[in-house]
Amino acid sequence: MRAILRFRAGLVYPRPRMSSDALTSHLTESRRFEPSPEFRARARVKSLDEYQRLYRESLDDPRAFWERETSDLVFRTRATSTCDGAPPHARWFTGATLNLTESCLDRHLATSDRHKAAIIWEGEPEAGGRPVETRTVTYGELHREVVALAGALRALGVTKGDRVILDLGLVPEAAIAMLACARIGAVHGVVFGGFAVEALRDRINDCGAKVVITQDGAFRRGNVVPMKATVDRALEEAKSVEKVIVLPRLGAAHAPIALQPGRDLLWSDALALDPRGGAAPEIVDAEHPLFILYTSGSTGKPKGVLHTTAGYLAGAHVSTRYAFDLRPEDLFWCTADIGWVTGHSYVVYGPLSNGATVLMYEGAPNAPDPGRFWRIIERHGVTVLYTAPTAIRAFMRWGDQHPSACDLSSLRLLGSVGEPINPEAWVWYHTVIGKGRCPIVDTWWQTETGTIMMVTLPGATFGKPGSTGLPFFGVEPDIWRADGSSAAPNEGGKLVLKRHHPSMLRTIWGDDERYQKTYYSEFSGTYFTGDGARRDEDGYYWVLGRIDDVLNIAGHRVGTAEIESAVVGHPAVAECAAVGRPDELKGQALVVFVTLKLGHDAGPSMRESILEQVSRDIGKFARPDEVRFADALPKTRSGKIMRRFLKDIAAGRSATGDASTLEDLTVLAKLSANEE
Ligand code: WTA
Repeated sequence: MRAILRFRAGLVYPRPRMSSDALTSHLTESRRFEPSPEFRARARVKSLDEYQRLYRESLDDPRAFWERETSDLVFRTRATSTCDGAPPHARWFTGATLNLTESCLDRHLATSDRHKAAIIWEGEPEAGGRPVETRTVTYGELHREVVALAGALRALGVTKGDRVILDLGLVPEAAIAMLACARIGAVHGVVFGGFAVEALRDRINDCGAKVVITQDGAFRRGNVVPMKATVDRALEEAKSVEKVIVLPRLGAAHAPIALQPGRDLLWSDALALDPRGGAAPEIVDAEHPLFILYTSGSTGKPKGVLHTTAGYLAGAHVSTRYAFDLRPEDLFWCTADIGWVTGHSYVVYGPLSNGATVLMYEGAPNAPDPGRFWRIIERHGVTVLYTAPTAIRAFMRWGDQHPSACDLSSLRLLGSVGEPINPEAWVWYHTVIGKGRCPIVDTWWQTETGTIMMVTLPGATFGKPGSTGLPFFGVEPDIWRADGSSAAPNEGGKLVLKRHHPSMLRTIWGDDERYQKTYYSEFSGTYFTGDGARRDEDGYYWVLGRIDDVLNIAGHRVGTAEIESAVVGHPAVAECAAVGRPDELKGQALVVFVTLKLGHDAGPSMRESILEQVSRDIGKFARPDEVRFADALPKTRSGKIMRRFLKDIAAGRSATGDASTLEDLTVLAKLSANEE
């Protein structure tokens, strides 16, 4: 409650500006949180001046910047030029040849890092407050396992450029499989372990995968999620797949694994195909494809975002080091699923290329109870925690007693990604988890950008709750009006990236036309992010929500993030989604879907007090037309609210469209059944 009061005191009220087709911003958070002098003194970048000097260099002399910052990576031949051509088809580090796994693995073997933990893993099942299984994989062991699986893949006929679909949960073998593909120049496509048959089949067919690597099943929230059975059904209509490698995860107490003769083999049998395990790394060109990652897009067919080798590695490497102020002794925990881009860049490639130790946890944050994350931090001494606002709001909902029961003093830095973090959640994270001691690094980026593009760089800059800070090195964002002119400070508009960055996507797999149309046609030749945002007088960026979701309220175009932040500011509200529905009189009516914190009842007085809250925080014009209470909101497994379903439900239509990335299908059915 104290945190909430402090947040209210920091609000500055409306100063709407601008023309009718632009986005108006109505909430301004005015507080600043400076890093502590102790943090600053040890930080990699210690001041705003130092940040600015590096930033200017990254734009004015990209060659010098990238050469120096990637000088610890392993290249067989160095690049002859830094960036060639122009977006949408710019190319990076021409002339460079490499095998990315040499940067993530081999280079650490010659040092004392050989025996350092690369991955500390904890399985989900717990007994008596302790994990049933933990594993520590050193760099030396990781190297051995990667080389062994790479040899197995080669023996199965996988060659450079072939696609391999990985349908794995958060187990060390997921990282091993990704790196094994990269070792032989194969292109991996990781899919969420929870996908339904159709979603999996469509992705396999889209990229024409030759091999699938999966596990028998996964433990999730105390249940067993079958995975191999889903793969079997998907493969009935996916004929490109020749072999399936299966990791036994569940153990002897579960059903035996059904293997299709000639097609399926157990992980250990695959390794036996190349007993010497001597897979030499495939040396590839800088622009050789590294991975495809499917994002659902707002409608229909999944998009296979393609990333290439050297540019992506450079982005992941440099951003991990700076954004998380990484130190050799850190235990870095990015809680993202491996099937999300955050899992690629900040569980695997970024930390391992830096020789860091990552914590990997298999299961749900509330398995078997809501104290699990905090026990993990205490048990292993996690120093950097990188998670998503949706998780933070869930922790708030479950109550402070869970983190308070654990010793969190090892933490020194907290991170956030995935959506705008509402100031309430920011302050809670800062106070209850970070004890006011840990800077919060808010990182804005996308599957498409591959790595962090905007950041409240810890040590160098102050935090503003809800703002994603300043551009990262080499990134030149802007806020544009519809005519392509730059917006004034605090004027909302479309967030664009004016300069190509090494880790940007290169195309959509098999559909370059869609790639160009999606990202480079709104403003010809300039990357449009799809987000609405504003930039304040300090140059800090504030994401207002996806442009497609912008609400038109009484003639003002308002981003979803601000309405939702106001609603979530209500002490009883856990989560909220704001959507528009067609209205004969007003054009668009504002509907907010609300889940309450535990122990609060939905009812007319609750409804009224939520409406009051929005009128007070934003203005009477933004008073929602409808408040709908729900037990849960439809979300992707990465925690993003899927507003298009809520728009359908608010409009009284049945929810349609691609539901393949929805975490829990029953949520939709319940919401539809709840209609007033
Ligand atoms: C949103 C996740 C505000 C944004 C890495 C973006 C954010 C989309 C932030 C990409 C942030 C991500 N503040 N909004 N810190 N981080 N977003 O592809 O709308 O899953 O365009 O990549 O999430 O989501 P994606």
